[in-house]
Amino acid sequence: MENTASLMKMKKQGDKIAMLTAYDYPSAKIAEAAGMDVLLVGDSLGMVVLGYDSTVKVTVEDMIHHGKAARRGATDTFLVVDLPFGSFHGSWDRTLENAMRIFQETDAQALKLEGAGEVLEVTRKLVATGIPVVAHLGLLPQAAAVLGGYKVQGKTASAAKQLIEDAKACEAAGACMLVLECIPHQLAAQVAKELNIPVIGIGAGRETDGQVLVYHDTVKYGSHHLPKFVQSYAEAGETMQQGLAQYVEEVKSGAFPKEQHRFTMKEEELEQLYG
Ligand code: KIV
Ligand code: NA
Repeated sequence: MENTASLMKMKKQGDKIAMLTAYDYPSAKIAEAAGMDVLLVGDSLGMVVLGYDSTVKVTVEDMIHHGKAARRGATDTFLVVDLPFGSFHGSWDRTLENAMRIFQETDAQALKLEGAGEVLEVTRKLVATGIPVVAHLGLLPQAAAVLGGYKVQGKTASAAKQLIEDAKACEAAGACMLVLECIPHQLAAQVAKELNIPVIGIGAGRETDGQVLVYHDTVKYGSHHLPKFVQSYAEAGETMQQGLAQYVEEVKSGAFPKEQHRFTMKEEELEQLYG
């Protein structure tokens, strides 16, 4: 299993880091078997697994429930779990309680927090507590309502300058890795160059130290609209639907179950039964 030091070494050596979300036992198990370096139990689970239209309804309990399942599926992969909407704002006592519960109960290697600014102090304190922190800048889905939707961030020179400053501040606060979501590739390249910690992109071009995608987008499983930056590598949803439709057909036609699927009682038992 990778650790914060080995991930740092991968960056230094120019070995790209492959990261993917996972939300339950089978998805994590398959991702681990595929050779993923890092798995993220993202709060995107609210949208792709629970069917919400944003991530703001996702709770600490949801993250623990899914994080534990993903951990059971991938026992040997660096696992990051998102702190959900509002769970790391407010009092430090409440933040620490939420973070400790998620960290301890999911047996994660790190927790991910969206944003800089006031969040930097939380990062410092969590790292001081002994909890590795992954930062997340650029498009912040938890703040989509404030940002005016899911839009590319850091497009202007001033916004880009602010993002570079924030990225450096996240590293200075002790973050072990940074996720950059939906920003121009030139800006992502600059951030990756200026930081010592691995910078992982999603919709941030290919000059970052690695990539992360959402599981269901990557294999096309129940995800409807794919954003421009997604490449899907399988047609899982279509394969499943075809299989399930055939099952329905065979149940109705009587083609399933066949002889090999059934259990048989011995003749003498049958005779005894009917006398
Ligand atoms: O929740 C999530 O899936 C994420 C990734 C997009 C980085 O935070
Ligand atoms: Na997330």
